[in-house]
Amino acid sequence: MEKRGVITIDGPAGAGKSTVGRLLARNLGYLYIDSGSFYRAVAWQARRSGMDLKDLKALSAFLQGFQPRVTSDGQGFHLVINDREIKEELRQPWVSRAASEVAALPEVRRWVKERLRQLAQNGGVVTEGRDQGTVVFPDALCKFYLTADLATRARRRLQDYQKDGDPPPLEEVMKELAARDRQDETRNEAPLRVPEDAEVIDTTSLSIDEVVTECLARVRELLD
Ligand code: C5P
Repeated sequence: MEKRGVITIDGPAGAGKSTVGRLLARNLGYLYIDSGSFYRAVAWQARRSGMDLKDLKALSAFLQGFQPRVTSDGQGFHLVINDREIKEELRQPWVSRAASEVAALPEVRRWVKERLRQLAQNGGVVTEGRDQGTVVFPDALCKFYLTADLATRARRRLQDYQKDGDPPPLEEVMKELAARDRQDETRNEAPLRVPEDAEVIDTTSLSIDEVVTECLARVRELLD
């Protein structure tokens, strides 16, 4: 396999994109990109700076000066702000909501898109999010769209929360995911859509291994 292209994985929250993306990247010797972490970082830092996320003028000024460092550990990328790698901080529920809010803004999307394209300029990346195959990398070598029913996605998210202790009730997680789906699917800028040329995989009753195996088969078909 000589070509090292861009592989995109889109889909709603809890569909398995990040787990599958990481494993697919590892199998191929590619780097993994979590595009959502950029939206999360914008929301996290803007709020920490005391900003009202609805104040577009202030947010625009903030973005011009916001230059988090992006480091690579050979498997993926990490965001470093003020010399500190931020990771767990970005997974908090309030950050998820705020990220979805700022992700509706054209200026924020442009800011993220530029950084993602820079990271992927030499190919060899698996990148996941909501618009990777539709807007950011329309010419990607291979595109996937992962989905699963709402209750399954909420149960998976609940397991993540359980690891951190103090999980909310399942109904609350379902409501939260449904609200985020609605926000991501109905916004004007780069709404969540199935890319025309994507392979759609419903992961509701599949194991992670089954999904990764299916993705790898498709990628190998295209690369060989
Ligand atoms: O994937 P993750 O849950 O980390 O994404 C957080 C939020 O960022 C999503 O709900 C979505 O609003 C936004 N996002 C996006 N486009 C992407 C990745 C994430 O709009 N490519």
